[in-house]
Amino acid sequence: MAKSLLKAQNLYHIYRAKQDQASVVALKGVGFEISQREFVAIVGPSGSGKSTLLRVLGGLMRPTAGSVIFNEEFDITKTSEEDLTFFRRHEVGFVFQEGNLLPDLSAYDNVVQSMTLAEVPYEFRKKRALELLDTMGVLPRKNQLATRLSGGERQRVAIARAMANNPRIIIADEPTGNVDFKTSVRLLELFKQLNRDTGMAFLFATHSNHVAGYANRSIELRDGLFLGQHGKDIDLSSLDLSRMVIMDSDNRITLPENIMGQLKEVGSLWNISVVESKKILLTPLEAIAEEQVPIQDSFEQRECPVCGIMNPPEGKFCISCGAKF
Ligand SMILES: Nc1ncnc2c1ncn2[C@@H]1O[C@H](COP(=O)(O)OP(=O)(O)O)[C@@H](O)[C@H]1O
Ligand SMILES: [Mg+2]
Repeated sequence: MAKSLLKAQNLYHIYRAKQDQASVVALKGVGFEISQREFVAIVGPSGSGKSTLLRVLGGLMRPTAGSVIFNEEFDITKTSEEDLTFFRRHEVGFVFQEGNLLPDLSAYDNVVQSMTLAEVPYEFRKKRALELLDTMGVLPRKNQLATRLSGGERQRVAIARAMANNPRIIIADEPTGNVDFKTSVRLLELFKQLNRDTGMAFLFATHSNHVAGYANRSIELRDGLFLGQHGKDIDLSSLDLSRMVIMDSDNRITLPENIMGQLKEVGSLWNISVVESKKILLTPLEAIAEEQVPIQDSFEQRECPVCGIMNPPEGKFCISCGAKF
């Protein structure tokens, strides 16, 4: 199994009340893990806690409670300011909705600047900045001020800047939030290609299920809680008890995948009862399931699966084409 890159456990975050505002509990016990080289989305409506979670995972903010273990080694929520700054400069690259560029600098200088902060030697900075701008398809725009770039170009430069110090993970908060649909598809394709080519993990937040669909795995956040996971790269053991079951507008509930896995085969019957007014108890109804009569025998006649002619129920061969049942 791939090595764990970031593992968050039981994260809570409370924004304390200021003056007459109420305190907000933005994260209510979130557990989350991303492995090296993974491509993961966090999806949820506005206010669900996506930005808070990304800020905590990227070491931009300490959570009120809980831990975030980086590289199976150290807890970024408990480390010194100095180590945290090193972590942010070298291990993570950030991309925000607005393309976090410095407005008074050119595209090129924006990329160089993040390497200057990380004390990369001058000659190396120049070469790497030009290479990255080229990979992102914005080399011809290198001397433009950030404010003169289009939305899509700004995000490409922001990605180049985020990648400059070769981080282990790019954390992007609504990176396609301010660009049109076509540009957002191109940016997502670029993310995917960079993830494949460089092995950097990508974690991005979006309110759009469509955008989240580009990830190999997406985590759904609702109201500060981890609601479920979608996608092909889901490790069932990572699903924990922190998820909720929510009733939709048609009074239906979708059970988490690990519970579905334990409910045996399709068509098995369960009795649902509510206990202690909070828990749902599922009891197997084996007896009823066994009494169920196969659909085929309940008809007087049987349809031949080969030619479609109706046959008498007792026959072993089709009366029309001779196919064997
Ligand atoms: N700096 C802040 N001060 C107070 N409340 C905040 C702050 N940032 C976010 N919140 C609140 O925390 C909740 C989660 O916000 P956020 O993490 O920004 O969600 P999302 O990114 O999914 O829109 C919201 O109710 C929001 O109003
Ligand atoms: Mg947000």
